[in-house]
Amino acid sequence: MNSYEKRIDLVRDYLERTALDNSILDYYSGRSILVTGGAGAIGSNLIVALSILVGKSGRVIVLDNLSALKTRNPWNVTPLSNIMFVLGDVRSDIDLKRVFRENPGMVFHLAAFFANQNSIDYPETSAEVDVLGQIRLLEYSRIAGVDKFVYASSGCAIYGSYPELPLREEFISMHLTTPYQINKMTGEMYCNFYHHHYGLPIINCRFFNSYGPGEVPGQYRNVIPNFIYWAMQGRSLPITGTGEETRDFTYVLDLVQGLIKAGYYSDAVGENFNLGAGKEVRILDLVNMVNKATNNKAGINFMERRKWDTKPRLLASIEKAQRLVKYAPIVEFDEGLQRNIDWFTENWDEINLCADFPPGMSSAVRGAESICGSTK
Ligand SMILES: NC(=O)c1ccc[n+]([C@@H]2O[C@H](COP(=O)([O-])OP(=O)(O)OC[C@H]3O[C@@H](n4cnc5c(N)ncnc54)[C@H](O)[C@@H]3O)[C@@H](O)[C@H]2O)c1
Repeated sequence: MNSYEKRIDLVRDYLERTALDNSILDYYSGRSILVTGGAGAIGSNLIVALSILVGKSGRVIVLDNLSALKTRNPWNVTPLSNIMFVLGDVRSDIDLKRVFRENPGMVFHLAAFFANQNSIDYPETSAEVDVLGQIRLLEYSRIAGVDKFVYASSGCAIYGSYPELPLREEFISMHLTTPYQINKMTGEMYCNFYHHHYGLPIINCRFFNSYGPGEVPGQYRNVIPNFIYWAMQGRSLPITGTGEETRDFTYVLDLVQGLIKAGYYSDAVGENFNLGAGKEVRILDLVNMVNKATNNKAGINFMERRKWDTKPRLLASIEKAQRLVKYAPIVEFDEGLQRNIDWFTENWDEINLCADFPPGMSSAVRGAESICGSTK
């Protein structure tokens, strides 16, 4: 079985385990759906799930500029006959015309300039993609009369630094620490504007830290793919803080489940809600689990906390998503982590080619001489 067949199997198994209602299956069958950012960590899984749900008479149109993969080869897009890949940019009128000519009835907007440190280094591009690109996409969606516009918002963008846990949707902070957070929050506000003013049926899904098959490592990428990548090379893992910090790591297919349900249930329209695991994982435990699962003996390297990284703990309340869209995450962290490591093993050559760490490290350890320091 090649790595594409494995991904399809993984998604198909997951969909069977979640046992989606027949009404959801009927709703998606035969639809034409646009996914922006469909070559990315979450999008590359969502498009496989949607391809299965829409079936032969439907179509999944993917718009992605491949900036996350650092290549013009869309290797993270599973080649399925009902998936149409368009190499293009959400900021480009020409590219948007091209995908809207396919008459999508639904949009999942996942494309983004990822993420915090990237936006600090390139604040203008962050706003161009995540604000102006999104407005352009909302305009096209409104004119096309799509019946759902699902937006990938971010828990880390909405709740600021020291809110009470678990994070509930009614709490909002204006004290954001990166342009990414500001722009993702602005994205939600534009969705709300298009809903209020034009009646566009938008849904704001606030993701918590995603992990799982589909996410490449890199200078600006999330901690889990970077840890796996370094551990598989026998390098020590840098912790920027004490290791007591926690995150609500959410398996990517649980997020996909949440998106599919968000796109279906009419109670979700005009709403915002968290999609997380609803559980905390300590960074120190994560590091030890990754080192153990990859048989990495190089240990841990403690480093200074990054200035913008002001969140000691993150934990989502998922009650609202449970109530509105029957969201129910099912994958435990150790299972999801193993699936993530399996995906790295199966796709090592491609991952290695696009892993981008100038000058040999991630933003997490910028300024440090080496990630291969001593074990504390
Ligand atoms: N991964 C997380 O932990 C997380 C958490 C909260 C919110 N989110 C949001 O979820 C969405 C998906 O996240 P992800 O982890 O899959 O990110 P990702 O970077 O893996 O995927 C985003 C995709 O968008 C593409 N893209 C970037 N700029 C583009 C542009 N101008 N035009 C077209 N395509 C463009 C990238 O090439 C990439 O494939 C993003 O909107 C992100 O902000 C993610």
